[in-house]
Amino acid sequence: MRNDLGRILKEGLEAIVAASSQRELDEVRSRYTGRSGALAAAMKKLRDLPSAERPAAGQLANEVKGKLEAAEEARRAALAAPKRAAAAVDLTLPGRAPRRGAFHPIVETTRRVAEIFQKMGFDLFDAPELDTEHYNFEALAIPATHPARDEQDSFYVEPGVLLRTHTSNAQIHAMETRKPPLRIISVGRCYRRDASDPRHSPVFHQIEGLLVDEHVSLAQLRGVLTAFAREIAGEGAGVRFRPDFFPFTEPSADFSVTCFVCKGKGCRVCGTGWLELGGAGMVDPAVFENVGYDPERWTGFAFGMGLDRVAMLAYGVPDIRMLLENDMRMFGLG
Ligand code: FA5
Repeated sequence: MRNDLGRILKEGLEAIVAASSQRELDEVRSRYTGRSGALAAAMKKLRDLPSAERPAAGQLANEVKGKLEAAEEARRAALAAPKRAAAAVDLTLPGRAPRRGAFHPIVETTRRVAEIFQKMGFDLFDAPELDTEHYNFEALAIPATHPARDEQDSFYVEPGVLLRTHTSNAQIHAMETRKPPLRIISVGRCYRRDASDPRHSPVFHQIEGLLVDEHVSLAQLRGVLTAFAREIAGEGAGVRFRPDFFPFTEPSADFSVTCFVCKGKGCRVCGTGWLELGGAGMVDPAVFENVGYDPERWTGFAFGMGLDRVAMLAYGVPDIRMLLENDMRMFGLG
């Protein structure tokens, strides 16, 4: 009896697993657990057993029945599932392309430019976009009466607090919180009440650089910016300085790099072969005094450049406003 039940269980389970349709499963059921199936025939034989053995054999038969029925139910569910999935997915339809993301050209440009200076040992330093007149102007030797304030007409949030007009506020924050020597760059948004035109926007981006050490020279400033120009515009690229004025540097210059579109030949974008990027100069001793650095001992240089103009060139964008309009086609999307 025991052997019969063992065999029925083994063969029944194999048949259930092998069944490939609901109809085959029906047949398996009538063969094994159905009214005139193998299990029912085996149970009839219970009567012939000595009465002492009957309860155990009866229990075993019930266990075998339970196992076969559970296996059959599971197989039925498994056979039904792929059918439902096949009905929901039409494999002949063309696929739906997933939406692709991309970094904004200004983000890409900022990373590229920052990476070049980081390789030269400049640390990334974070400075606030909303700042006081002290950090944006006064500590940089731009008093309220200074004509330079007219050039950087500002957005005030409350008296004395404004959206910074340049990243040069980072110079003061860095020198106030760190001891010399130091080498930092700082990137971020700047705000000016400039009328919008293809090259100006009231919101734009700058990168600031500041190096303070003993015996720093203008030649070193030129060397750093030339190394930057070569990285961004290729070997043979150069930097051009022209005298300029900034209250916080002396001497001061505006600087241009060889155009990386035409490699200095002169093109529709740059006109002259040079791209004007920003201002630079040797840190004015008055600024060192404002942050408590000894101007007799410490020397340094600083530079600040517009990142939107670099992005416009690198991506061939003719109007700065296109960078801020969120038109997905700008990123090769949409
Ligand atoms: C300054 O902002 C100085 N802080 C730069 C500096 C730093 C000089 C350290 C010396 C030492 P300027 O106002 O020239 O300088 O602006 C620098 C660059 O910012 C410009 O050359 C230009 O590329 C960019 N820029 C200025 N205003 C705008 C604007 N409204 N829209 C887009 N880019 C602008």
